Amino acid sequence: MFAKAGFECPQVMENTRKLIFENEERAVRYFWVKPSDVAIYVERGAADLGVAGKDILLEYNPDVYELLDLKTGICKMAVAAPVDFRDDVRKTLKVATKFSNIAKDYYLKKGRDIDIIHLNGSIEIAPILGLTDVIVDIVETGKTLKENNLEVFEDIVPISARLIANKSGFKFKNEAIRKIMESLSEQLKEENA
Ligand code: PRP
Repeated sequence: MFAKAGFECPQVMENTRKLIFENEERAVRYFWVKPSDVAIYVERGAADLGVAGKDILLEYNPDVYELLDLKTGICKMAVAAPVDFRDDVRKTLKVATKFSNIAKDYYLKKGRDIDIIHLNGSIEIAPILGLTDVIVDIVETGKTLKENNLEVFEDIVPISARLIANKSGFKFKNEAIRKIMESLSEQLKEENA
């Protein structure tokens, strides 16, 4: 999509271990970072633009502009639990998640008392091993839940990839950024037509 917007850099698509790719002719540089780090690079101005999941934006609340929903990487944040789980509201609910802030906000709004156990991966096994009652995690196809005898208990929020911009970069490189934004929007419209 960025190439179609006039910012091509064919090396990005090559299967190498390189992390930074530059096309001097187009005055563009791309780099790969972990999904959870994208917003940090953009917020700090090491990148003018980034593609980050809405999950990361909700969890870390970075000081960036969210310019566009790229309608890709579509999934949802959900509460999941063992298939026979029944919520007993008299007890503190134990929740395992990588997304502690999203989980806290969600249950605060519901007025539900919870105990968060922050994990870094393989969240699905926490309720199976009795570590927690439920998990708050990303669900895309639902395959991971199903294969671990879990199911969605409540939906929290839809998630997709977003185009984000550094706030001062947006001001000083406005023309180039607008050009990219407009082209990406146009491409999305064509795709959905
Ligand atoms: C997410 C999530 C689930 C899986 C859900 O992990 O934590 O494990 O995707 O996908 P599904 O509904 O299609 O089965 P991700 O692949 O992002 O990797 P992670 O463990 O590093 O978070």
